[in-house]
Amino acid sequence: MSELPDGLTKLLSPAKLNGIMLKNRIIKAATFEGMLDGNNNISQKCIDFHEDFAKGGVGMTTLAYCAPEPDGRMIASYMYIREEITPRLQQLAEKVHQHGAMLSGQIAHCGAFSRNKALHRKRPVGPTTAFSKVGMLYGLYFTQEMDQQLMRDVAQSYAHSAGIMKKAGFDAVELHFGHGYLLGQFLSPVTNKRKDEYGGDIENRMRFPLEVLDAVRREVGADFLVLAKITMYDDLKGGITVKDSLEAAKMLDRDGIDGIVLSAGTSSQNPMLLFHGDSILPGLISHEKNPMVRLGMRLVGKTMFRKYPYRELYLLEAAARFRDVVSCNLIYVGGATEPGSLEKVMNMGFDFVQSGRPLLRDPQMPLHLAALGKNYVNGCTHCNKCAPLMDDPQGIRCVLNDDALY
Ligand SMILES: Cc1cc2nc3c(=O)[nH]c(=O)nc-3n(C[C@H](O)[C@H](O)[C@H](O)COP(=O)(O)O)c2cc1C
Ligand code: SF4
Repeated sequence: MSELPDGLTKLLSPAKLNGIMLKNRIIKAATFEGMLDGNNNISQKCIDFHEDFAKGGVGMTTLAYCAPEPDGRMIASYMYIREEITPRLQQLAEKVHQHGAMLSGQIAHCGAFSRNKALHRKRPVGPTTAFSKVGMLYGLYFTQEMDQQLMRDVAQSYAHSAGIMKKAGFDAVELHFGHGYLLGQFLSPVTNKRKDEYGGDIENRMRFPLEVLDAVRREVGADFLVLAKITMYDDLKGGITVKDSLEAAKMLDRDGIDGIVLSAGTSSQNPMLLFHGDSILPGLISHEKNPMVRLGMRLVGKTMFRKYPYRELYLLEAAARFRDVVSCNLIYVGGATEPGSLEKVMNMGFDFVQSGRPLLRDPQMPLHLAALGKNYVNGCTHCNKCAPLMDDPQGIRCVLNDDALY
């Protein structure tokens, strides 16, 4: 370790995050595993998957994504948090802890962005009643505006889920405020057209997301680690801007968030912004079983899957603007693949870094970085062939490792 440059030494040294000590500043980013059994529960494969990152030396790994209630699942076979699955969650926490790593769970509700035909409610719910471009392909033509009682119920479902995770031995939860999920739908002027106190300026659009944070905090207490993942900007006409997100980040900081993960884009409308690199559309089309949906994807795909060529640290410029406006921890995510990039992120004052694809490519990245320093080569090509595997029976994985690892 003594021969490492300062940035990498900082990255690989223990660091405190609210009440817990992480053995280093590398956090496995949420990468929806899709490794579930037939009962909407995490499978042994999912436990092994996270154990690999723990063995490989990450400070913390993140289970994703965990819906807080049945209608929060994008499709009916996904997982939602409930008491019944506590034993599996406990096993996961024990396995991860055995290797000195911490465990977080990403709580995300898909809201209006649903393809779930087995909904408990009549329609997918969101900030505003609207025609659903995503749902249309699955026979879900309209979304339903949430009333205040439903907002309270859903906020409570987040709190309940966080409480279950805490009891199961998780060290943190990550609330999804971005990527076009429910809380992001409230934040975006494109999806939030409300005329009441939950729509309009950024303060109003943040009202429900902050109520969710408040409900979670009340449930888990001040000492438990609560993170937020946000979309800094979405490159959509009339959508989320960095200016608004800076205000949103200040509100999260004021209301007691412990750390903010700084992402971009929306899965529902501009997904390539969050990934950069090769388009995931061909992979999604080839995994789709329904011919009508495949046709729909071909028709709308080109406008939705815009081109964002890969470059290292593609979100750094926007993310750097948050350092001066909040005092909570800031967690960089997005194209931190090479040792020089990781070093730069640390030298620029970010507290932690989340890694998605680089860790999928090499789950032992932290150990390899410690051994090789600046000579470490990760090998992720940003082909993005891992992303469409979310619904694959084998679950997500780096396709380059297909023979080697999983
Ligand atoms: C296969 C895959 C699945 C993902 N699933 C999620 C998810 O469930 N929730 C989320 O917030 N981000 C998800 N992401 C985005 C990552 O968390 C991360 O923001 C993005 O990959 C950029 O980081 P990277 O360059 O380190 O991969 C996913 C990314 C990949 C590659
Ligand atoms: S499939 Fe492997 S190489 Fe391609 S983007 Fe995913 S992690 Fe990187």
